[in-house]
Amino acid sequence: MAEDGNKGEAAKLSGAGYEVDLPVIHGSIGPDVLDIRKLYGATGRFTYDPGFTSTASCESKITYIDGDVGILLYRGYSIEQLAETADYLETCYLLLYGELPNAKQKEDFERTITYHTMVHEQLNYFFRGFRRDAHPMAVVCGVMGALAAFYHDSLDIENPEHRKISAHRMIAKIPTIAAMAYKYSVGQPFIYPRNDLDYVSNFLHMMFSVPGEDFAQSEIYTKAMARIFILHADHEQNASTSTVRLAGSSGANPFACIAAGIASLWGPAHGGANEAVLTMLYEIGSVDRIPEFLERAKDKNDSFRLMGFGHRVYKNYDPRAAALKDSAHQVLEALGAQDEPLLKLAMELERIALEDEYFVERKLFPNVDFYSGIILRAMGFPTSMFTVLFALARTVGWIAHWSEMVEDPTQKIGRPRQLYTGPVQRDYTPVAKRG
Ligand code: CMC
Repeated sequence: MAEDGNKGEAAKLSGAGYEVDLPVIHGSIGPDVLDIRKLYGATGRFTYDPGFTSTASCESKITYIDGDVGILLYRGYSIEQLAETADYLETCYLLLYGELPNAKQKEDFERTITYHTMVHEQLNYFFRGFRRDAHPMAVVCGVMGALAAFYHDSLDIENPEHRKISAHRMIAKIPTIAAMAYKYSVGQPFIYPRNDLDYVSNFLHMMFSVPGEDFAQSEIYTKAMARIFILHADHEQNASTSTVRLAGSSGANPFACIAAGIASLWGPAHGGANEAVLTMLYEIGSVDRIPEFLERAKDKNDSFRLMGFGHRVYKNYDPRAAALKDSAHQVLEALGAQDEPLLKLAMELERIALEDEYFVERKLFPNVDFYSGIILRAMGFPTSMFTVLFALARTVGWIAHWSEMVEDPTQKIGRPRQLYTGPVQRDYTPVAKRG
């Protein structure tokens, strides 16, 4: 529990006819927060903070970001160390349970996840209800929500064992569901999971094997994929995680909450940006057209934004973007495609933008989505799958936050207030008398 500044430290807020002390709460690192929970009772006023730019919506022990410096920690471990040395499932364990697993815990966790990767056979028919040209995010979102209709035995959110089984099921089945969404869209048969493969290799197998030929696993691919998964696994209270928490605060079942997170992630300002970056790079087409697009990004009358640039929290280089830039070089080199024009274009775009006064002044740097699409494309993923991969990797983060919220004894249903600016009360007029 955070230390709640009962050492006499408080901020004073006064206005016409009121004065109130706001307790100061200290986290383990990061800025202190002012506790405004009693503000309305004491003053008759709410705070106004659209987009939550100054509001902490919860207490959390999972992930820490210092956006000014460019630091990202999962349970205290730096993202650079984890991306370099950890594997994805031990990162999942860390996010879910707070500590890295010992050898026995790691083995048990891997076995549990492996033995939950298959989905209910009936789900095959559910998939077949979708149009073949559906966006895979629509399919994955629908199927995740539908899991609540298949796994009735783990829906009691008050039961810790049910919560644990649901968590394991979602982490285990999301690669299967993602790969099925892809296979369905290209008209290939679904590929069943294999228990002799690790999490990442198994996903690549379900994506790229066909009944006549197994996917040729390569260390470069599995390493790059694992790194992408680790870098996307959590990012504290972003839009989709906050959506999961808000949905879960009403007591909704975990599958419904994660489906809500997937829906929120889909937007181009959030997880959909990785797809939008590639579309943008194709549209720019060549280095000589970069200035034209930068001018458009700066023009307030033009809705075009530089996709993969800027972040609500990072006002410095996103550490995830740095790691992915590195991976992009490694993957393309391994494929003998180091001269890939798209990578050159992206690097030149980054260079020019980082020297441009508009971007410098606003502290706009490349974010996690800027380089991930280039790697995924080189690995053979279609653009429409990029956001699905983000959702796959983020599922563990959403579940960790959902579990933390459900286990928090101070948790209440999320219910923001509003500043109402609509009409004041007026009388109903019969239609004949309306102008
Ligand atoms: N291109 C051009 N201008 C930008 C951009 C951009 N990508 N991002 C921000 N700005 C400008 C914005 O117009 C504003 O300028 P001014 O102060 O003159 O009005 C200023 O920078 C601050 O922007 P903001 O919209 O107030 O910032 P925000 O914190 O609300 O938005 C963001 C953050 C990520 C939505 C935004 O930077 C953006 O739309 N970026 C492009 C989409 C993108 O790459 N999203 C992925 C985010 S990282 C992955 C994830 O978390 O899902």
